[in-house]
Amino acid sequence: MKAITVNLKIWRQAAQNAPGGFFTFVAKDVSTDMSFLEMLDVVNEQLVRDGLEPIAFESDCREGICGVCSLVINGLPHGPQKGTTTCQLHMRTFDDGAEIIIEPFRASRFPIVKDLIVDRSAFDRIIQAGGFVSVNTGGAPDANTLPIGKGVAESAFDAATCIGCGACVAACKNASAMLFVGAKVAHLAMLPQGEPERKLRASRMVVAMDAEQFGSCTNTLECEAVCPKEISTSVIGRLNREFGRCITH
Ligand code: SF4
Ligand code: FES
Repeated sequence: MKAITVNLKIWRQAAQNAPGGFFTFVAKDVSTDMSFLEMLDVVNEQLVRDGLEPIAFESDCREGICGVCSLVINGLPHGPQKGTTTCQLHMRTFDDGAEIIIEPFRASRFPIVKDLIVDRSAFDRIIQAGGFVSVNTGGAPDANTLPIGKGVAESAFDAATCIGCGACVAACKNASAMLFVGAKVAHLAMLPQGEPERKLRASRMVVAMDAEQFGSCTNTLECEAVCPKEISTSVIGRLNREFGRCITH
């Protein structure tokens, strides 16, 4: 087992409207086999032992599927490893003695709750507006009872891998949510289960996205570059086409 020491600069902020700033911590004897969040756990254990308040950050699944581990690491949402959530990032990615700057997602529609935790409930409201299916799908059907082509199934699955983390918004200079909304609209638009609401879904979600005051897409592609699920910006084209269908039908 290799152990390294890393110098951390971590954003701390007691509440949404409280002043915030960077605080320095040294994490010693960090196993390179640890995940990034396990390293923060160890830092917090020491803070608690010292009678200090631990650093607030979010995690749940720690396996890259829930989307809550929203950190900006050295300027990049989810850190330096492409296609990887913060919770799946390991300390072997960093050199001994490295300085690591850790901040919350920076986007006005994701206000800071405390330290590294942001409120991403705007995404929930967009999903509520249209990202559902009303059809009664019943139990899991037998394989091959729904004739969906392999190419369509794979494209729908690729879009469905969006975990709603918000990194696309955090990376975008406009704080646009188009990649997220595009992924949600695209995966349902390609499958028969999504047909009942298909004509309304895109408009409902775009209206909700605009009501939440996310910015416009100007094709800078930062969203695709940082997305831990490597969602393609082709879903934005799909969203635009689905939106066009809504307003012309
Ligand atoms: S599109 Fe990618 S970056 Fe955006 S919310 Fe979904 S998984 Fe996260
Ligand atoms: S903690 Fe669930 S995706 Fe990172």
